Amino acid sequence: MSGMNKKRSRKRILVVDDHAAARESVSDVLRSGGYEVQASSSASQALAMVRQEMFHVIITDLQMPGMDGLEFIRQLHHRRIQSQVIMVTAHATIASAVEAMRFGAFDYLEKPFNATRLEELVKQAIQRGQLLVPEENHPENLAHIAENLGLVGKSRAMQELRCRIRQVAPTDETVLICGESGTGKELVTRAVHQLSQRAAGPLVSLNCPALSPQLTESELFGHRRGAFTGADDDRVGRFELAEGGTILLDEITEIDHTLQAKLLRVLQEHTFERVGCNKSRNANARVVASTNRDMATEIAAGRFRQDLYYRLAVIPLELPPLRQREGDVQLLADYFLQRAASRLGRGECELEPAARDLFAAYHWPGNVRELENIVTRACVLNTGAPITADELRPWLEQPEFGNPAIDQHTGFPVGTKLEELERQMILATLEHYGGHRARTAEALGIGVRTLSGKLRAYGFAPHTKEFSEEGNRQLLPLTSADSAGKNHKQSA
Ligand SMILES: Nc1ncnc2c1ncn2[C@@H]1O[C@H](COP(=O)(O)OP(=O)(O)OP(=O)(O)O)[C@@H](O)[C@H]1O
Ligand SMILES: [Mg+2]
Repeated sequence: MSGMNKKRSRKRILVVDDHAAARESVSDVLRSGGYEVQASSSASQALAMVRQEMFHVIITDLQMPGMDGLEFIRQLHHRRIQSQVIMVTAHATIASAVEAMRFGAFDYLEKPFNATRLEELVKQAIQRGQLLVPEENHPENLAHIAENLGLVGKSRAMQELRCRIRQVAPTDETVLICGESGTGKELVTRAVHQLSQRAAGPLVSLNCPALSPQLTESELFGHRRGAFTGADDDRVGRFELAEGGTILLDEITEIDHTLQAKLLRVLQEHTFERVGCNKSRNANARVVASTNRDMATEIAAGRFRQDLYYRLAVIPLELPPLRQREGDVQLLADYFLQRAASRLGRGECELEPAARDLFAAYHWPGNVRELENIVTRACVLNTGAPITADELRPWLEQPEFGNPAIDQHTGFPVGTKLEELERQMILATLEHYGGHRARTAEALGIGVRTLSGKLRAYGFAPHTKEFSEEGNRQLLPLTSADSAGKNHKQSA
């Protein structure tokens, strides 16, 4: 057991056994092997412990009063706990050991066993865990993680998410990312792409609700000149642009039924045709889809094809809302403060303690994006003194943040003022058309002068470039093909 002596890299082990003597002897062996060991006399207590802390290996007895070892392993599996589990069992219960392994247990140890066998198995379990979970949970690696995946957060949910990303990225499977608006779905897509074998290839995205069904189809698959009115040239679709790389179908539930069928075919057969063209083309892009809707509801309501869902959700990734990520608000606030300060060429920007408390108590309906916007705004306006709770409060208490019930169809909080809806629609449309006022006005069915008047009333300068830049700041630098179809929601 050499090499275990560096304190930082000490692996954590949890020993679960109702017999004190057995528990202690296993713990002692492992402690003298250089591991950091904790012990628990019951499975239910152990479940509480794994919620709080990450263990590389869990060693559990099978026969225990209350929850037995098998149920414990099922529970760990159910909660997607990433630790490697070794089950200890008497000879008569090998059948249960096999059952345990079906639920992801790493191996089993038959009683009686000696210290060497125990150490050997633990070592193997750790090696296997490292393949799945590379040095992930050391807080000192957070900066490194932020750099590499861009995903800041030390809550259990985020730790698990990063582990899952590392597991799924190298496979070529379709990934479905679910999460409320602003939780980081695009960021996760980028991480999946960057850690995949397609990292050197393009990452192309299509914002599904931004366009009419016909245009969406043409954006996805391309079209032939003359295929429909306005198709003046042959056009390459995003599946082709994403050749050898990854394609993100953003807000996938918004595509219509006909297109859903076509997409299903691409996923099943890896072929597609450009609109107005018979020639089949080979689709060589890994598909990542995202949604902020509840898939079960969409399927039940007949809005989304179940078969397509199953195809997409080969590997589902769930992004929890920020309010459920304990401790992450502070970490993210500091991260965004630092980033904004360096972007603005400022010295350090600080939050006073009361401001931190305010953040901690807030429910963040706009999730990470809202936090980023508020922190950035605070940094822009900051004059050098720590940012106070009083400065922040008005931004948190605006009515648009006050009501957490989001209408599933419009994506706006229920009770949003019509005036606010109009403002958001106008800004979103303007952003969609890259700041082009005439096209924006036409799309909205109003005159250019009316549009300009409204923009002035919102405080935007005569030329809208500034706004476009602010809007784009939050977009991923995907390929240039991305800018056309992107309709980005602002939550602050
Ligand atoms: N864990 C994180 N660490 C650092 N930045 C994050 C994290 N999660 C999200 N962000 C930032 O928050 C903003 C919103 O994230 P992103 O655009 O990925 O969300 P989304 O889920 O795709 O939102 P929407 O559903 O509205 O499209 C981005 O600027 C992103 O960089
Ligand atoms: Mg997104």
